[in-house]
Amino acid sequence: MNQLSLHQLLATNQLKKKKTTSPNELFDLRLATNSTLIKNLFFSLYPESEHTATFEKLLSLLTQLFQERPEDLKKIDLERLKNGNWYQSEQMMGMQLYVDHFNKDIKGLSEKIGYFEDLGVNFLHLMPITKRPKEENDGGYAVNSYHEVDKKYGTKEDLLTLTKKLRSKNMYLMLDFVVNHTSDEFEWAKKAMKGDKKYQEYYYTFPDRTIPDQFEETLPEVFPETNPGNFTYNHDMKRWVMTVFNSYQWDLNYANPEVFLEMLGNLMKLTNMGVDVVRFDALAFLWKKMGTDSQNLPEAHQLIALFRMCLQTVAPGVILLAEAIVSPTQIIKYFGEGDMKGNECEVAYNATLMALLWNSMATKKTVLLYKSLQYLPQKPKEATWINYIRCHDDIGLGFDDNDIYSIGWDAKEHRKFLLHYYCQKLDWSPAKGLMFMYNPKNGDGRITGSAASLLGLEKGLEQQDEKLVSQAIAKIITMHSIILSYGGMPLIYAGDEIGTLNDYSYQKENSKKDDSRWVNRPKQDWDAISHLEKGSTPQSHIYHSLRKLIGIRKNNPIFADQNNLILHQHHNPHLLIYERTSADHKNLLVICNFDDHIHGVEKSWMERVGYGEETGIGDLVTEQPIHFQSNHLEIGANEFYWIVRN
Ligand code: GLC
Repeated sequence: MNQLSLHQLLATNQLKKKKTTSPNELFDLRLATNSTLIKNLFFSLYPESEHTATFEKLLSLLTQLFQERPEDLKKIDLERLKNGNWYQSEQMMGMQLYVDHFNKDIKGLSEKIGYFEDLGVNFLHLMPITKRPKEENDGGYAVNSYHEVDKKYGTKEDLLTLTKKLRSKNMYLMLDFVVNHTSDEFEWAKKAMKGDKKYQEYYYTFPDRTIPDQFEETLPEVFPETNPGNFTYNHDMKRWVMTVFNSYQWDLNYANPEVFLEMLGNLMKLTNMGVDVVRFDALAFLWKKMGTDSQNLPEAHQLIALFRMCLQTVAPGVILLAEAIVSPTQIIKYFGEGDMKGNECEVAYNATLMALLWNSMATKKTVLLYKSLQYLPQKPKEATWINYIRCHDDIGLGFDDNDIYSIGWDAKEHRKFLLHYYCQKLDWSPAKGLMFMYNPKNGDGRITGSAASLLGLEKGLEQQDEKLVSQAIAKIITMHSIILSYGGMPLIYAGDEIGTLNDYSYQKENSKKDDSRWVNRPKQDWDAISHLEKGSTPQSHIYHSLRKLIGIRKNNPIFADQNNLILHQHHNPHLLIYERTSADHKNLLVICNFDDHIHGVEKSWMERVGYGEETGIGDLVTEQPIHFQSNHLEIGANEFYWIVRN
């Protein structure tokens, strides 16, 4: 039982005992329940002998932050405590979007709520909307403020109106908290530049290259093409500052507890505007230690758990998403391990599944997928995934080298093949992606491109090749069918629901042209959307298919994440088969075919896993009974089944 379950239990008991329990009483109860953990985490990062006074400050800060939390949100916090883990429900269906690329600004977005409702989306991830530098700003991930809305998107009032409207429609909102760094225009950075020592200690700043050089020995590069190295010289300050991402993104120094306290205040200001899920950006990088790669360090986990325990005490209805695009065995740790199991982030990106699905599409085989997923530890039962195929970032090939070798492939050659397959280096490949941050020193690179362009729709339409177009459509739908059924919150990247192609316009903009991730951040095509009802365009086909699948998901509790996934082994290397199980045996069997040819599953195999013909098996999507053809269940090229028993 994690701390959240404990709070749920205590709140329910308290409410049973006393009908008029006030939010304040429940806050006191949460503080009492979490304070030992908060104390232990705090002093494990900041030794007690020096930082007792700061800890006392933290305790009074928690009370102050609770008092500042708006009353209507406090009510929702309590509702959520009573209602269990809302974020694991089959009702969750997300979409990620850039507000300006979607429909101009926050008000424009509000006008499109009907669109989300039509598709079945009830959870929005809006890309950063707070103030940022005018020129380069990493799509808003260089922040000048954690809570002031950039005027290009509207006003704070617009945001408050939107969050209220979303709540009235039972919709959820996720915003980013760029917890690892600020922009170099942030008020602390400006003060540091002016020579203020206090604020220089909010970042990692050094008078010369001695320490930076030592750090560099073991620090990898995140953006080697555009931002080699991890430090930038600031002429005003006459010091080097740590900038792991872009030179204008200054890494915060969490070894200084004042930074933690201030950032907790910033986090609460953001959530007090009605944010339900906070995306903890780049959280693997939060703690730096010389001699290491400064990623996934134990102290980073303690710090995240400390944020979690404090946020939960103040606002138990708000949850954290881990944006940890790291190796499979590391990702799972962001749910919390050991004593802190289930007490870090409630949600994490399923980056492992995402990368493996792209690998399976390119190779037409699921062998690496099985190898990689098979032995991964179970996530805690209160935790869930965000399942996605595309987001605003690149696709990293973060597989475990040992897994690749163990299936008889060469890891380096295999990664090279994937880069070539997706980035237009192989004539026969249907994909039209671009290379991102290719590092000639080691041959590493990542992939950008919209889902539709990577899956062949762009090439198919260009060449007026009907077969390629229909293959691409089948692949797009099958990829989405997996994120919808795997267990967790599915997140569609805006535009993918209508098969939007790459957008090359970024190449003409100075502040964007070196960052090919913009190719997969297209503008929402409202013209195409206005014609969805008519005709048999690829857009219309994709939209209506996804809409149907979403509807099926929302009507079947088996899709809720209850840690109820079994990965089934089958000898056919082109198939992915998994089952979602339930106590009442109303299970779901998912079979996907990654090949361009039909494949079959033997009747005897189906019987063995409990799906014989006599059980009255049928497909949830076509609503047709399933029959075997010469003792086989046939699965079309790039197609899938959602099979249930009657
Ligand atoms: C995250 C974001 C990415 C950004 C980086 C630095 O990984 O998803 O877009 O560049 O953080 O903030």
